[in-house]
Amino acid sequence: MNPFDLAGKVALVTGASSGLGAHMARTLARAGAKVAIAARRVDRLEALAAEIAAQDGRALPVALDVTDPHSVARAVEAAETELGALAICVNNAGIARKERIGDLDDPAWRETLATNLDGANLVARAALNAMRKHAHGGSLVNVASILGLRPSPRVPAYSAAKAALVSLTQSLALAEGPNGIRVNAIAPGYVETDLNSAFLRSPTGARMVERVALGRFGRPEDLDGALLLLASDAGRYITGTTLVVDGGHTLSFL
Ligand code: NAI
Repeated sequence: MNPFDLAGKVALVTGASSGLGAHMARTLARAGAKVAIAARRVDRLEALAAEIAAQDGRALPVALDVTDPHSVARAVEAAETELGALAICVNNAGIARKERIGDLDDPAWRETLATNLDGANLVARAALNAMRKHAHGGSLVNVASILGLRPSPRVPAYSAAKAALVSLTQSLALAEGPNGIRVNAIAPGYVETDLNSAFLRSPTGARMVERVALGRFGRPEDLDGALLLLASDAGRYITGTTLVVDGGHTLSFL
């Protein structure tokens, strides 16, 4: 049997309307999972669901704002009602705002923490509650960042939120291990998406890529191996880890 096979498993991916979330939803669906694709832009989710269906996959568009606890509860409920008991949750929704260095009262600070940390915690709590109720174990994958491991002075709130998400991953892994639920994080390096394409194409981005050991920024599909490992039975003895997928970027200076 293929240990990466996700046939029949129900997954929820947040922030699935674009970028890495949309790609990870496609990857999980290709591995056989039934995927609730959740975000605020439902029109985009509907297009993605149609694309996945055209490739014989199953995806359910679900409206979700991760900063709203009611919306999070409704999304998990909709996923379970339509698709079945939740087994995998990919906590991917996130934002990166322009930040003013040193100004902790900046609205960017609050907005970034509200989405990337508080939102991730709300989703984690709702997903873990559902998994615990079914007593079939499960896998929660938090999408952190190399900036949570090696902070950048350009985005202090983003770096702090992602560092806290790495710590939260470890706490939740300890708490949920006895329930057979694994909690891990992926820390991607720079992968070109809506979040960062302007930055990566700037002169600073051009200088930065020289410090990536593999000589290029990432592509969404570079995360497939880590995602499938952590989501599937292939990763059955892995919990509390943060898997860095950055082409060797953090070996050098950010
Ligand atoms: P993106 O901007 O294309 O996607 C982010 C997704 O999160 C979008 O679908 C957006 O609508 C959604 N989102 C934002 N706020 C939300 C909210 N309140 N409720 C529900 N959905 C919300 O960016 P990308 O690059 O795909 O980012 C995905 C995740 O990967 C983020 O957590 C980001 O921090 C992380 N990441 C990205 C890296 C990159 O180089 N692209 C590197 C390291 C981490």
